[in-house]
Amino acid sequence: MAREYTQEEKKLFEEIENGRTFTAEENLPEIYRKSLMNLLWMQGDSEYAGALGYMPWIAKAPNAHERVLVSQIVKDEMRHAHAIYRILDKLGEDTHDHCLNHEFDWRVEDDKSNIGFTRAKDDFRVNIFYYPITYWEDFCLFNFLMDRAAGHQLEDTLHSSFNPWKEAITSIVKEEAMHLAHGDKTVKEMALDPEKKEFLQERLNLWWPRVMNVFGNSKGLSNDIYIRLGLKKRTNAQVRDVFVKEIQEKCDAWGLTLPEYKEEDQQVAS
Ligand SMILES: [Fe+2]
Ligand SMILES: [Fe+2]
Repeated sequence: MAREYTQEEKKLFEEIENGRTFTAEENLPEIYRKSLMNLLWMQGDSEYAGALGYMPWIAKAPNAHERVLVSQIVKDEMRHAHAIYRILDKLGEDTHDHCLNHEFDWRVEDDKSNIGFTRAKDDFRVNIFYYPITYWEDFCLFNFLMDRAAGHQLEDTLHSSFNPWKEAITSIVKEEAMHLAHGDKTVKEMALDPEKKEFLQERLNLWWPRVMNVFGNSKGLSNDIYIRLGLKKRTNAQVRDVFVKEIQEKCDAWGLTLPEYKEEDQQVAS
């Protein structure tokens, strides 16, 4: 539940609604700075952990053409991390030190585990980036599911009240579109291949709750504050509905089954 806002905060929300924007050079209101930092650290760490998780697949991709595409995707994610970390550095954070002091290539050991909504380490990555990408099917499903989920979330940032983030996101969104197109193409091909379909479905069953958890727990904090600050346009639930509809349509067309997702099954003890 959102807390009661002060008069000063309400005034800020109104100014933002009327088009007020911010730069990295100005003194940001505390509530704004705190929320912005949460989102930037979450994105920066996710992009960086994502790049490192994908990296082994440059060598393990099934053919030369895919090696090139995976290399491109790794480079994109690394660039996204750099773009976001650069903004954080301008805001006075030390991202270099942060990267040196966290194990961004660390992954949970059990390939079939479900960590629910928990954070496995003290970095800020979205928790799906704690799972290992064990098979080529995982890599493709990650593009199909997670790049799509992230793409939808980042679309909101195209309208962000924080100018440096808005500027950085324009090219990031275009590159993410290529990643999810890669996911769509490869997942479709595997789904339509009788020899590959069964294992693909098995891996989809594993990844589906993990990606759904990315949108958060409905009983947790609402992201109402992010919307009021002009840092998001839609609630996580709204973005999730659009995402699920798209995935459902594709799975129906390709003969894949989306497993039932129950939020209460995701409350795993850490
Ligand atoms: Fe990215
Ligand atoms: Fe991506």
